[in-house]
Amino acid sequence: MPLVTTKDMFERSMKEHFAIGAFNVNNMELIQGIVDAAAEENSPVILQASSSAIKYARIGYLKKMVEAALDEYDIPIALHLDHGPDFETCKMCIDNGFSSVMIDGSKYDFEENIELTKKVVEYAHSKGVVVEAELGKLAGIEDDVNVSNQDAMYTDPEQAKEFVERTGCDSLAIAIGTSHGAYKFKGEAKLRFDILQKVKEKIPNTPIVLHGASTVIPELVEMCNEYGGNIPGAKGVPDEMLHEASISGVSKINVDTDLRLAMTGAIRKVFAEDPSAFDPRKYLTPARDLVKKTVQHKIRDVFGSSNRA
Ligand code: G3H
Ligand code: 13P
Ligand code: ZN
Repeated sequence: MPLVTTKDMFERSMKEHFAIGAFNVNNMELIQGIVDAAAEENSPVILQASSSAIKYARIGYLKKMVEAALDEYDIPIALHLDHGPDFETCKMCIDNGFSSVMIDGSKYDFEENIELTKKVVEYAHSKGVVVEAELGKLAGIEDDVNVSNQDAMYTDPEQAKEFVERTGCDSLAIAIGTSHGAYKFKGEAKLRFDILQKVKEKIPNTPIVLHGASTVIPELVEMCNEYGGNIPGAKGVPDEMLHEASISGVSKINVDTDLRLAMTGAIRKVFAEDPSAFDPRKYLTPARDLVKKTVQHKIRDVFGSSNRA
């Protein structure tokens, strides 16, 4: 199957109330682990690369590895730029065959975000590529926001409507309390589902995206720590909340941290148990297997996208 945009998969996700996993990639083992899982679950999947991941892997290699996955499996796969920082990066990805790009203008004020997003939308649409934009700010606990300025960071549903109408973006990433990385919450995990619901009421036909949505799977953190890692107190979004998001109007759920933990935990285990190991296949095979298992669990048990290819 050729590369697809996210248009059809998002339409189905909104109609049938499930979410599609968008998994960050920067090497062959991640790509293989993810598509092996998606194919086994007969699920659509989004492979996404950030600009720093593209710098690391090199765009030509990423493209060819994704092409290999498309040759191997008959499931819908979209290739997406994650957190495009500027127009030029989005254009480079569009010109190199990505089917979807994100322009992340959330660091700018409302009007500047609109202006930049519109420019990307215009170019992307002229090439048949779809655009994800972002409104609202994802705080990390290290940002130490107090309650009153927390409200200012969440997406304003009224603004979301104006933003989508004025930019023509195809999907919208919103801020409802998630954040990137392994340290998302100091105390209890809490997401503002009330804001999600209001956004959905204002823009019912726009697919919604959740960034910073790793569970920070406790078993994976323990595995890293048991075999010499030092990742104390890490905490993410519990599966139950992600499942609720999936059936409440979120179409795309972004996962990077959990795959980093899976690869690292598996590799650490091999090195700890067999210090004489030095064949990369010896540690990258279990790493790829654990990525597959992690993705499969999310697709099947949390996001609900199995058998929707
Ligand atoms: O949201 C950001 C992703 O986790 C990508 O991170 O820029 O380190 O590749 P990165
Ligand atoms: P996590 O750090 O929670 O995996 O979020 C990834 C992400 O949002 C990529 O854009
Ligand atoms: Zn993100």
